[in-house]
Amino acid sequence: MDLLEKLRVVEKRRDAFASATARPGATVIERVLGPCEVVIGGRPTLMFGSNNYLGLTLHPEIVNAARQAVLDYGTGTTGSRTANGTFALHETLEHEFAEWFGKRHAIIFSTGYQANLSLIGGLCGPGDVILIDADSHASIYDATRQTASQVVAFRHNSPESLRRKLERLPKGQRNRLVVAEGLYSIRGDVAPLREIAEVCRAHSAYLLVDEAHSLGTYGATGLGCAEEQGVLEHVDFVVGTFSKSLAGIGGVCVSDHHELKALHYLARAYVFTASGSPSNIASVRAAVRIVREHPELRDQLWANIRRLRKGLREMGYAIGSTESPIVPILTGDEERTIALWQELIAQGLYVNVIVPPGCPQEDCVLRASCSAAHTPEHIARALEIFARVGAAVAVTKM
Ligand SMILES: Cc1ncc(COP(=O)(O)O)c(C=O)c1O
Repeated sequence: MDLLEKLRVVEKRRDAFASATARPGATVIERVLGPCEVVIGGRPTLMFGSNNYLGLTLHPEIVNAARQAVLDYGTGTTGSRTANGTFALHETLEHEFAEWFGKRHAIIFSTGYQANLSLIGGLCGPGDVILIDADSHASIYDATRQTASQVVAFRHNSPESLRRKLERLPKGQRNRLVVAEGLYSIRGDVAPLREIAEVCRAHSAYLLVDEAHSLGTYGATGLGCAEEQGVLEHVDFVVGTFSKSLAGIGGVCVSDHHELKALHYLARAYVFTASGSPSNIASVRAAVRIVREHPELRDQLWANIRRLRKGLREMGYAIGSTESPIVPILTGDEERTIALWQELIAQGLYVNVIVPPGCPQEDCVLRASCSAAHTPEHIARALEIFARVGAAVAVTKM
């Protein structure tokens, strides 16, 4: 078959869902009016489909930190830290992460995706076993593929399934890595980390928790679900991303294991790629400071989550049961889901649309995400649009 045929099939499928307003996966944001308002198709649109959980993307201190770093250091690092040297900024951010988490070491990466590639790829090789939650993010699945390790998926959020899988492995070895996420990104459900950590301890497995969506949004000091559940000390490796609450780009891993430092030489997704731009790293430093100094941002976020969930539930929308910044709206089949999504955009509301291959054909989801920067008025307007569109497309009361 012609190599390009695969791409033609995808294009044809996308064209089938084209509309005057938007097609899934190809929405153009023409302008940014605020942390939660953008222009799409020439009209102001409420943004409920970004991971700007704390609303920091336009925070003046963060913007100024980025601006100053461009003036001080230039626009790019122009290469890998291994080859070109490390800007002091990057090392300082690593120290700040280690201090924030109360862990001994931290290493930062150019993206959150690369943090998983680097860590899992650095730790695991032939003969090792990686146990991952079946609903893991693509970066975790992709990371396992480079390792030639045995990969075992356990049932989503099931410590019992994890325990059974570990029991089947030979005893007394220290070559197992268990990977879980704090908050799962599509359905917004939280991992039972206390139980997972217990199972890991009982079977001498190392535990990696990816807190991509929970960093900044969970825990007394914003460290994520492991902090919230009081098990941070039992997590060997915490991965975080800068691209959500921290309003930048990049990833981080913190750990008490001093061996983590070897990733500076070992991890291909670290060694063979350019490090984060100075403006980005400076902006993340400022964002970390703000997250630490302003716990009230989390209170605002949680108040907004409750307001949005209550409104959607009262209208009869089927939403996931876990209260979290991610509100999954269960919409069923693909065509109906895309029709609803397009109509929401046409009315001025952007949410994420999850359709195959991101989910099974009949299990599509619209994903609304809350931000501390949403005002009560934003939420009231979003709910009005949901009410109008839900009635028109008849998706309520599934
Ligand atoms: C659980 C999880 N890990 C890693 C990533 C990758 O992070 P980034 O987009 O910062 O590369 C994501 C992104 O959505 C994610 O949800």
